Amino acid sequence: MNILARAKQLEADGHDVIHLEVGEPDFATPQVVRNAAKNAIDEGKTHYTPAMGLPQLRSKISNYYKEQLSADVSAKNIVVTPGASGALQLVLSAIIDPGQKILMADPGYPCNRHFVRMLDGCAQSVAVSADTHFQLTHQLIRKHWDSETVAVMLASPSNPTGTLISREEMQQIIAVVNELGGVLIVDEIYQGLVYDEKDFTVAEYSSNVFVINSFSKYFSMTGWRLGWLIAPNEYIEAIDRLAQNLFLAPSTISQYAALAALDAEALAVYEQQKNELRLRRDFLVAGMTKLGFIVSVKPGGAFYIYADVSKFTDDSFTFCSELLEKTHVAITPGVDFGEHQAARYVRFAYTQPIEKLQQALDRLAKFLLV
Ligand SMILES: Cc1ncc(COP(=O)(O)O)c(C=O)c1O
Repeated sequence: MNILARAKQLEADGHDVIHLEVGEPDFATPQVVRNAAKNAIDEGKTHYTPAMGLPQLRSKISNYYKEQLSADVSAKNIVVTPGASGALQLVLSAIIDPGQKILMADPGYPCNRHFVRMLDGCAQSVAVSADTHFQLTHQLIRKHWDSETVAVMLASPSNPTGTLISREEMQQIIAVVNELGGVLIVDEIYQGLVYDEKDFTVAEYSSNVFVINSFSKYFSMTGWRLGWLIAPNEYIEAIDRLAQNLFLAPSTISQYAALAALDAEALAVYEQQKNELRLRRDFLVAGMTKLGFIVSVKPGGAFYIYADVSKFTDDSFTFCSELLEKTHVAITPGVDFGEHQAARYVRFAYTQPIEKLQQALDRLAKFLLV
């Protein structure tokens, strides 16, 4: 947050800051989706929807799973939420009692541990490294599970590393968590943004898993605050009651826009954006590697590169601060994502066009004197 605030300050002072710290796509929401929202407003669709979301949107998301991911997910298990953030809060509120522990990877998405703490639960961070693609594995879950542990949170592709959990590993994780009697939560917010292989959802393998997703990333709708979750049957009633109390309903206008985001016209735009992101990833990974950054696991998805900067520094926070001050390139230090080897890593977000990435590489080369 300090880096972001300083980047904004430098920009306000007239400097040309290249933002590679921002975790959202630079693409505006497609016009067809924006038009759907305008129509909804013009038609006066401005009242609350049911707490679990518009029935037609829940059905459309169910179809999306069938058509795009060959997964059979019933609309009654889909809950539309205020972003993945709302979905995470609903799920965690439904499953955590005070003192209970949730396993999660370090590095990982920082808000998760804060959500757990808000519920008087305990985030049980497990250090993960390049050898497991910065992901929890079924062995690590078994090893760290204790009598207070009730659930595991995963994210594939991951923030901050962009790395994936394979189909085989996911099936083994499902089996182990099931055997341990725990709850599995898989954050698939970067689903759709997978570059080298066919995408899949954990819902293909189990109906006993919470799946988190969102219109924020693949659908380029961060500001619309709309996401969804898939909940196992036994939790639907509790989630409905929690949603009624916590949020009343997700944004009505955003839900009408989201109906258009799932149509063929918008999906074609999203596929083009994904291709553009793949090019950017390849370009930036190659350029960074040339400069001496170590990218030990090629990021298969999302729009992040988690790079080892130990060749340049033993303090990635200071590295990021100096880089920003001297070159006006903003990146995120590892400390934002946990404690494990945090001083050794930084996160680059390739949420800028290739010309900007080239400029950033030029500035980095000067900064590093290579
Ligand atoms: C892994 C992960 N989960 C959840 C979120 C929250 O997303 P939103 O609430 O915009 O859907 C983010 C945002 O960056 C994220 O990276």
